[in-house]
Amino acid sequence: MSKLVACLLSASLLAACGEDKEPRTKTFKAGFEWGSATAAYQVEGGNTQADFYLWEQRCEPGDEVGERDSSETFIDCQSNLDGPNFWEKYESDWDQAVAMGHNSARLGIEWAKIEPTQGTYDPAVLAHYHAILDAARARGLDLMVTLQHFTLPAWANDIDDPNLGLGGWGGSDTTPAGQAPIIAEFVRFAGDMGEEFGEDVDLWVTINEPMVILPACYLAGLLPPARSLEVGRTLRALYNMAYAHAGAYDALHARDLGDADGDGDTALVSVAHHWRIFDPFDPSSPLDVEAAARFDEVFNRFFIDVLTSGKVDLNADGDLDDPGEGVDVALADRLDWLGLNYYGRKLAKAPLVTFDDILVPFYFVENEDPERPHNDMGWEVYPQGMERMLAEARGWGLPIRITENGMADADDAERPGFIVSHLKALAHAMRDGADVRGYYHWTLMDNFEWLDGYGPRFGLLQVDFDDPARTRTRTRGADAMQAIIEAGEVTSAIEESFGTLGE
Ligand code: BGC
Repeated sequence: MSKLVACLLSASLLAACGEDKEPRTKTFKAGFEWGSATAAYQVEGGNTQADFYLWEQRCEPGDEVGERDSSETFIDCQSNLDGPNFWEKYESDWDQAVAMGHNSARLGIEWAKIEPTQGTYDPAVLAHYHAILDAARARGLDLMVTLQHFTLPAWANDIDDPNLGLGGWGGSDTTPAGQAPIIAEFVRFAGDMGEEFGEDVDLWVTINEPMVILPACYLAGLLPPARSLEVGRTLRALYNMAYAHAGAYDALHARDLGDADGDGDTALVSVAHHWRIFDPFDPSSPLDVEAAARFDEVFNRFFIDVLTSGKVDLNADGDLDDPGEGVDVALADRLDWLGLNYYGRKLAKAPLVTFDDILVPFYFVENEDPERPHNDMGWEVYPQGMERMLAEARGWGLPIRITENGMADADDAERPGFIVSHLKALAHAMRDGADVRGYYHWTLMDNFEWLDGYGPRFGLLQVDFDDPARTRTRTRGADAMQAIIEAGEVTSAIEESFGTLGE
């Protein structure tokens, strides 16, 4: 067939038709946000005012390095104080982010540092955050700021006080859901930060991963205040966080009047919501199937439903006819966009357990299939989940940003393929109609991985923690992401040179 005939017959062959200069449409168009995400406590160091720091202090080292014994809160009793020191190295870190092709960045500001005693802000800390944000803006990075990422000021969740200071997100046994004293404090803080930093920031994340912190704090007893099996408190805390978010949403809209990028929007507010794919451990077991569905309902969907519809379903039974339930307009329509943190898949197992009349999915495990790839922490790498998540999450009709996605991979052998495969899945979902505005890789540099200390390496920049200067080395993961940013899509050449993972 002559080239001319081929051109006439098939629009898809246009690219081969000499004169036809119509450029192929790229999936990731100009204006798509590319960046990495960090959390203040994990990268800054010097944080001695947070509930987590009190938790660090409780640590009694076990005998085996690399093993946590029952008295250890953090592996090997490692501390945020020994981190990558972003607090001082932010200028060169922003230089590296720009060199990787990033045009945006998600970072946290630490409430505990800014307000070490209740009601008093530290001007030097605020000034330092201004310097960090200014340095990013001067390099052309747009900013997304997280107000709370797992840690609270010690005065708000004082684990050394039987009443926990202000009571944290869980409040006290007598405070009804949605009325814990911390809510008013967080709303005030959010509004003040909106006014303080609004000229530089349009994208706000109020709370990082409510659905991770709640079970970890009140069910599994892993994080401060380390309560176990307190299902009722977990649900009350969920509503305390929902009201704190909704109040912060209103406060940020009222008080962030600065339009950082000049597009007419001064404050666009979300949470960063951790989403997991839950599949049944045994697909032929109806009880495992039911457990996976219940996990999806309560872990993935519940909190976002609350902040979109305003439903107050205090026992999560799906109806709103129990005492105190209904729809509260003060909670509804409080997301301008949806931030999703995606890391992979878990396998749900029976039984579902009823505590305080609340049906709780209780049990999930890793997929240990040796054919599947896993990160250094044993989590299955499952890029297909990116597409499955977006197919569900687009149902809320909100613009979406991937606010975290990454893998612990100390030798950086698999990170490039991880990035390629997850961005391919993201591109598919976008071509199918998912409205995704940005991708923020977790994380910019190796950091303090909470209870696991400095073992797991999630960084696009590797950090040498033996070197007092905390030298950074750029990874091939960063190269893979940069190649995709520059191409505006995942080309077959990129796939060939960086590989894929878990497809
Ligand atoms: C959290 C991060 C954490 C990452 C890897 C996310 O759920 O937001 O703080 O470092 O997972 O564990």
